[in-house]
Amino acid sequence: MRIQADRMQGLASAIFTQVDDMRKTEEAAGRDIITLSIGSPDMAPAPHIIDTLIEASRDITNYGYTLSRGTSDFLRAVANWYQEKFGVVLNPETEIHSLMGSQDGLAHLGLCVVNPGDIVLVPDPGYPIFSAGPLVAGAELYRMPLKRENGYLPDLDAIDESVLCRAKFMIINYPNNPLAAVAPREFFAKVVALAHKYQFLVVHDFAYSELVFDGYRPDSFLSVPGAKDIGIEMHSLSKTYNMAGCRVAFAVGNAEVIAMLGRLKSNFDYGVFYPIQKAAVAALSGPQDCVRETAAAYQRRRDIIVDGFNEMGWKVDKPLASMYIWAPVPTKQTSFEFITDLIKRAGVAVVPGVAFGEHGEGYIRIALVQPENRLKEAVERIKKCLG
Ligand SMILES: Cc1ncc(COP(=O)(O)O)c(C=O)c1O
Repeated sequence: MRIQADRMQGLASAIFTQVDDMRKTEEAAGRDIITLSIGSPDMAPAPHIIDTLIEASRDITNYGYTLSRGTSDFLRAVANWYQEKFGVVLNPETEIHSLMGSQDGLAHLGLCVVNPGDIVLVPDPGYPIFSAGPLVAGAELYRMPLKRENGYLPDLDAIDESVLCRAKFMIINYPNNPLAAVAPREFFAKVVALAHKYQFLVVHDFAYSELVFDGYRPDSFLSVPGAKDIGIEMHSLSKTYNMAGCRVAFAVGNAEVIAMLGRLKSNFDYGVFYPIQKAAVAALSGPQDCVRETAAAYQRRRDIIVDGFNEMGWKVDKPLASMYIWAPVPTKQTSFEFITDLIKRAGVAVVPGVAFGEHGEGYIRIALVQPENRLKEAVERIKKCLG
């Protein structure tokens, strides 16, 4: 039966599944695999967040459809959080929409704004939904290579005018997954100017704004003058508050785009579960030392991997943010061949860079989602395997 629609071809890189299958095969054979592949946090939400969720879950009036952009408490909490963290003022009535994870927003935004034949500019390497969402909506992709020599920023001057004229939106993401790169404010200003000139929308994925190290603080894209005229930003509670399974995030910025997303979502889903919105309010409005502790834990983990690799002669950059290490393949193998060896010979599962796009070839991504003792063990196993 040939029932699959062509648009399905844009979905889910087979490579992720292959890596996970390899891990499962090794585990089924009784081997201990240190899994550093998927970026699902291993740390827990702070107790006050869990308590709020439990309490709200006991209230039987919280089980109906929520049917809204977000409760007024949720929208106010997001507005306050944005103002406190980034000095960005948002109107809770028009400029904020709750999401069932930023994945929800990234997957569906294309359906609101893309007509067949429109171009969407996406980073390569990039987080897979950046491409899959627009492709499903019928967009043509223009892949912007992110190269180390350009600080992992797209070379905006290299994009042809004919592409820019057909561009409907551009997705950028700093701090970046998988590259762990950060962007200077001047880059955002350049993007804003380009988007104004060619009248396209900019979507900035800001999922890792709080996983920052060594005193680094990123700017919100929306803090750049003129950004709100052409842009939205998405943030998620998944990584910042270790709430990935709760599926709660938000899109903020340009009111027209937020309204379109709201219209689409009011047809597609019935809102985020009340107890989860309440837990999100507790997270956003409560004490923020849990966020600092999470970031500090990732910083210590970063140091174990990067220092450990550098000591064995594998030169790896030390990132200022995110929960990933982007490391060049230290052998003559492709990234897929190398990670296959790593799973089989070292018992360490990571993702080949090519899973994030052709410009990811030659690299691997390591997710810092295991405690320090396991990461130290991973370094030791890799050292033996390479040595
Ligand atoms: C860059 C980026 N954006 C979005 C997401 C999805 O996050 P959420 O759990 O909010 O859907 C991830 C998850 O890893 C990510 O790395």
